[in-house]
Amino acid sequence: MAEVAVIYPGSFDPITNGHLDLIRRGSQLFDRLVVAILTNLEKEPLFTIDERIDMLQLVTEDIANVSVDTFSGLLVDYARQKQARAILRGIRAFSDYEYELQMALMNRKLEPRLETVFMMPGESFAYISSRLVKEIFHHGGPVKGLVPPLVEDRLKQKFPARAAQMR
Ligand SMILES: Nc1ncnc2c1ncn2[C@@H]1O[C@H](COP(=O)(O)OP(=O)(O)OP(=O)(O)O)[C@@H](O)[C@H]1O
Ligand SMILES: [Mg+2]
Repeated sequence: MAEVAVIYPGSFDPITNGHLDLIRRGSQLFDRLVVAILTNLEKEPLFTIDERIDMLQLVTEDIANVSVDTFSGLLVDYARQKQARAILRGIRAFSDYEYELQMALMNRKLEPRLETVFMMPGESFAYISSRLVKEIFHHGGPVKGLVPPLVEDRLKQKFPARAAQMR
């Protein structure tokens, strides 16, 4: 049997413990998992693509079948190029469902052989998003437990003044 690869696409600005939970679950289900950072449609990211690649590689280095890559353009074209059979997406609240369903059905229209697989995070991660992590950090709130310790350090390095304000 040929190995089954899955693409986990997103902006990962930055990677959170919710993303990491999904990556671990996905890596147990598929032979190979590629975390793919979308580089188009960027609206003022906090971390550069290189910084995001670096963080993703470091926090997934203990998972043998996970790799990190970037892509632009259509996800279905990228998946074809990587010979992936599936797209992995996470569903947190019901609010994720509408957008995710639309994307999954459109991608199926574009490439019928590519399946979208949805996974639920562990419930303690279900309320985490990159946007909220950035907002909390921006206002001097604690992000411990929401992101891997390495990401917390990188946030503090980027904003030393905010880090000092955090106590
Ligand atoms: N805490 C989480 N639990 C489960 N899935 C998640 C979680 N956070 C993100 N995902 C999923 O990961 C994929 C990539 O998400 P994305 O890069 O938009 O992250 P995000 O945290 O939602 O960031 P942003 O707040 O910038 O939108 C999406 O399928 C999203 O639903
Ligand atoms: Mg999102």
